[in-house]
Amino acid sequence: MGLCKKLLIGDGITALITLIVCLSLGLTVGRRNFKSTFFSRCEKFTEYDCQKLWDAFQQAYVNKDPCKVPVEAYDPLLAAAPFKHQCNKTMFWSQTNGVVHGLTAKRNDCFVTLEDTLLGSVLDNLTWCGKEGSNDTFTTGCPEWSKCENNPVHSFWNRSSAAFADVACGDVTAMLNGSINTPFNPTSAFASIEVPRFKASRVKKLNVVMVIQKNARSNCTDPSLKNLTQVLDRGITYSCKDVSESQIQECGAKPEIACGACW
Ligand SMILES: *[C@@H]1O[C@H](CO)[C@@H](O)[C@H](O)[C@H]1NC(C)=O
Ligand SMILES: *[C@@H]1O[C@H](CO)[C@@H](O)[C@H](O)[C@H]1NC(C)=O
Ligand SMILES: *[C@@H]1O[C@H](CO)[C@@H](O)[C@H](O)[C@H]1NC(C)=O
Ligand SMILES: *[C@@H]1O[C@H](CO)[C@@H](O)[C@H](O)[C@H]1NC(C)=O
Ligand SMILES: *[C@@H]1O[C@H](CO)[C@@H](O)[C@H](O)[C@H]1NC(C)=O
Ligand SMILES: *[C@@H]1O[C@H](CO)[C@@H](O)[C@H](O)[C@H]1NC(C)=O
Ligand SMILES: *[C@@H]1O[C@H](CO)[C@@H](O)[C@H](O)[C@H]1NC(C)=O
Repeated sequence: MGLCKKLLIGDGITALITLIVCLSLGLTVGRRNFKSTFFSRCEKFTEYDCQKLWDAFQQAYVNKDPCKVPVEAYDPLLAAAPFKHQCNKTMFWSQTNGVVHGLTAKRNDCFVTLEDTLLGSVLDNLTWCGKEGSNDTFTTGCPEWSKCENNPVHSFWNRSSAAFADVACGDVTAMLNGSINTPFNPTSAFASIEVPRFKASRVKKLNVVMVIQKNARSNCTDPSLKNLTQVLDRGITYSCKDVSESQIQECGAKPEIACGACW
């Protein structure tokens, strides 16, 4: 696209033609990039048929109004690549993206987040949507969440985080952010989608790891955590520990540290 940018510094009709050519080129490249990103990320997981997953994925939003994609549209995709029970390894997070994935990238023997699973990692950071009357996948001009909640990206993350929480079992961990005022925020996916799905029949314990950075504003004594204990299914044991960011990084850097000894 760098070439297109340079060519646009022409004038008159030439610029117009160049603009049209470049726009359609950009759209095609965007679409092709999306599909090839999907496949190249998917192919890292050798146990799945990526073409089948692509078909199941596309049927959720293709040829639909991008503001009318319900969470259930992804049920066939979830059925095609179900999450495994990862007892004691399931890791949830809210507002700690960098630190939590820095850790799980190195210690997948200990912790697995949604973004480390096949579906989560394939679609991480991507934007996509369909359009009525077209079978294409678009990556630009897709509706923002503020415009409509039932958009293809939001519905996917809503459905997949619910499914990921459904299979959580044993001791589960949640990494929350001690640098913000309300670490357990009722509007977060963790609070609104995941926690309500933890059932005492499967989940024994919820261990909250409060990430403490230099600019700490809250910790395990924060009142929002009282809300967490109140909504948690009775029978699930709750614990919270303030853990410095450097200690979490240490656990990532030293594979010899036992999972249970990370904090
Ligand atoms: C999960 O961890 C608990 C506590 O350490 C242990 O008792 C249990 O056996 C573990 N379960 C599995 C499936 O590893
Ligand atoms: C916690 O939130 C603050 C403020 O948004 C952000 O600067 C910081 O990186 C977050 N901490 C972690 C561990 O992600
Ligand atoms: C998504 O973005 C984050 C932050 O920029 C990055 O660390 C992560 O590797 C990206 N994920 C994928 C699958 O590329
Ligand atoms: C979209 O795909 C369906 C099923 O493969 C096909 O019947 C339809 O003609 C296609 N529509 C367009 C606009 O290409
Ligand atoms: C997730 O989807 C459900 C079902 O459509 C909906 O009730 C809920 O508001 C959504 N949650 C979020 C955080 O978007
Ligand atoms: C936790 O935060 C409260 C309120 O900001 C503060 O008074 C207290 O000293 C903190 N506790 C620890 C152990 O850091
Ligand atoms: C606790 O939950 C109640 C009800 O949802 C809400 O009104 C209140 O603001 C929450 N408190 C904190 C500290 O998050």
